[in-house]
Amino acid sequence: MTKNIRYLLLGVLVLLPGAAIAAGPSAQALAFTCAGCHGTDGSSVGPSSPSIAGMDPDVFIDAMNGYRADQRNSTIMNRIARGYSDDQIEGMAWFFARQRLDLKSQPHDAALATKGAKLHEKHCEKCHEEGGRPGDAGTLAGQWMPYLEYTMADFLTGKRDWPRKMERKVDAATAEQGEQAIPALIHYYGSQHRPDDRGNQHD
Ligand code: HEC
Ligand code: HEC
Repeated sequence: MTKNIRYLLLGVLVLLPGAAIAAGPSAQALAFTCAGCHGTDGSSVGPSSPSIAGMDPDVFIDAMNGYRADQRNSTIMNRIARGYSDDQIEGMAWFFARQRLDLKSQPHDAALATKGAKLHEKHCEKCHEEGGRPGDAGTLAGQWMPYLEYTMADFLTGKRDWPRKMERKVDAATAEQGEQAIPALIHYYGSQHRPDDRGNQHD
């Protein structure tokens, strides 16, 4: 089934209140327990909890399973993720996928961001499409810069497994721009706070 059809079907399910009640607490009620850190609808007030609004449901489920199995480095999510069943995680995945990502303005260095934009286009855009907006590889555009900093550090120090083929591209960006490469990329993502017409695919 294509993604669009899945989203359409979800819309239909949401209109049938009985379905949600029969399945226990609604995904929205469960998602409420995440609000303290990730914001009421998945746009976190930052800076170390990532925004999860608009996240692709499969990426969301992979992340939660990674935390549950201690396969993904985490300060807190491994403990939290273990408190939910597969069905509950799936329900929350679809709930958050449908929330609009509210991009917040973050202080950034414009010159670095310009360098980062070029690096992104060349080395990252292939997988992190539309400037890193929510998609098959998580959310980078408008994501909190402190979160991106420690996440990149986790990859680079081997605490978090590299997604397939990503390490090579990060190496290539670093070969091109030296130690400015990672800060430039992070300032580029942090510079994005206007959802433009390429914006959130899940609306
Ligand atoms: C106490 C704060 C806190 C709470 C509550 C919390 N989270 Fe998190 N979440 C984090 C932090 C911090 C991270 C980054 C990983 C880490 O350090 O554990 C994260 C990461 C994530 C990610 C990965 C995002 C990405 O971009 O890859 C997902 C998905 C997620 N949380 C879902 C949830 C869900 C669903 C709930 C509620 C059931 C929840 N979180 C509750 C703090 C929290
Ligand atoms: C070949 C595909 C691919 C390329 C190229 C790629 N990535 Fe990724 N990246 C992924 C995937 C897939 C994920 C999803 C997370 C996972 O599987 O752990 C990811 C996750 C990330 C994350 C973590 C997001 C989160 O929410 O925790 C960051 C940061 C990131 N990539 C940065 C970059 C940067 C910067 C570049 C370019 C230098 C890049 N990536 C190039 C595939 C790629």
